[in-house]
Amino acid sequence: MMTRAVVPGSFDPVTYGHLDIIQRARRLFDEVVVAVLENHSKQFLFPVEERVEMLKEVTRDWPGVTVDYFSGLLVTYMKKVSARVIVRGLRALSDYEYELQMALTNHELDEEVETIFLASSAHYSFLSSRMVKEVASMGGKISDFVPPYVEQKLKAKFKERG
Ligand code: PNS
Repeated sequence: MMTRAVVPGSFDPVTYGHLDIIQRARRLFDEVVVAVLENHSKQFLFPVEERVEMLKEVTRDWPGVTVDYFSGLLVTYMKKVSARVIVRGLRALSDYEYELQMALTNHELDEEVETIFLASSAHYSFLSSRMVKEVASMGGKISDFVPPYVEQKLKAKFKERG
């Protein structure tokens, strides 16, 4: 039986921290679906199409990894793609409360759905899309945080915004 896991997130934009989790999830599961949240009420820098496109580009040569988007409840999406496992990365203790709340809510909504946490690699434990955007918006160096393709997109986005 093929095992399929979903790595959900905002990915605004994808960082090396996310990619580390996706890669490690792929070592544990046959198929990994990266599910990008399309939520119009959240203020994203990149529209969902661009967040998906960046992820597709940087995971292009990764067998068993697909990229999709979802709106509404994650548990509904899990049913749609016939997956039961959610994989999330845990960076620091500060992530834990929010992550536990999400995991418990999702399990309450659908008891078939389980969340597995992977400890973020120490190398990326400080990394967040929010910090990357802040550094990029002020012209700082982000090449250690995101792949070159994403770096270009960020630079273009802030240039276009002026
Ligand atoms: O990268 P993020 O922003 O931490 O990811 C959060 C995400 C997308 C996993 C979470 O907001 C989510 O699953 N949203 C969908 C709405 C939902 O299912 N809510 C109930 C469970 S918290």
